[in-house]
Amino acid sequence: MELRLDGKRALVTGASSGLGLHFAGLLSSAGAEVTLAARRLDIVEAEAAKLPLAHAFALDVTDATSVENLIGANTFDIVVNNAGIAESGPALETTTADFQTVLDTNLTGVFTVARSAAQAMSETGGGSIINIASILGIRVSGGVAAYAASKAGVIQLTKSLALEWARHGIRVNALCPGYIETPINAEFFTTQAGQSLIKRIPQRRLGKPDDLDGAMLLLASDASRYMTGSVIAVDGGHLVSGL
Ligand code: NAI
Repeated sequence: MELRLDGKRALVTGASSGLGLHFAGLLSSAGAEVTLAARRLDIVEAEAAKLPLAHAFALDVTDATSVENLIGANTFDIVVNNAGIAESGPALETTTADFQTVLDTNLTGVFTVARSAAQAMSETGGGSIINIASILGIRVSGGVAAYAASKAGVIQLTKSLALEWARHGIRVNALCPGYIETPINAEFFTTQAGQSLIKRIPQRRLGKPDDLDGAMLLLASDASRYMTGSVIAVDGGHLVSGL
């Protein structure tokens, strides 16, 4: 079975860097018409210009008007809810405002984008929504309480939306990456703490963005037509590391 996306319109949020930028290129290479959306329009415009059939749009997922401006005016077959932030620090020192900021982006932002996209999808026969959660939504680590809570919320939100929207032909699935090397964390993994973390991954290496390609293309394409509410971990076995 070929995982092609020809004729499909895809939206990737947070597509200015890291995994989002990688996913935009991947979906484009599979034949989709991709919209790269992020807060920095100049960056997504420059990246979209490198792809065959791509568009750029300014989007802040925490701003309902911004979401409506993009999604209210466009219909997508595939939505990758990738925008996210990772705050870290001890819970005792985390302010309510900092906690709320993580929830606003990582959880409420996913809901706002998914709901807007689903309203249009329900009128066009359906689509596939892929929420980027994390293995930290399933297991925990120190210093990431807000992030872990937000990603656990994304997983449960994914299941709830899958249940409600199956009747509209909309599939909603979650992809939970393990530790993937992106520009934002590359430096940490050169430190002693980073190196000892890698030793706890059963496959003994960090993930690379293209390690996620198989799961992403599966969820984006009709190959996963009977999958909804699924939670797929791609983590080198990190979730099953011994206790
Ligand atoms: P990143 O920081 O390179 O990318 C995050 C993207 O989201 C950036 O383009 C940023 O501008 C955008 N963004 C942040 N707030 C936004 C907002 N309010 N509106 C629109 N865009 C916004 O980080 P990375 O690593 O590429 O992460 C992408 C997703 O993957 C995130 O949801 C992250 O939690 C998740 N993830 C990453 C892992 C990793 O090891 N890199 C592991 C598990 C999950």
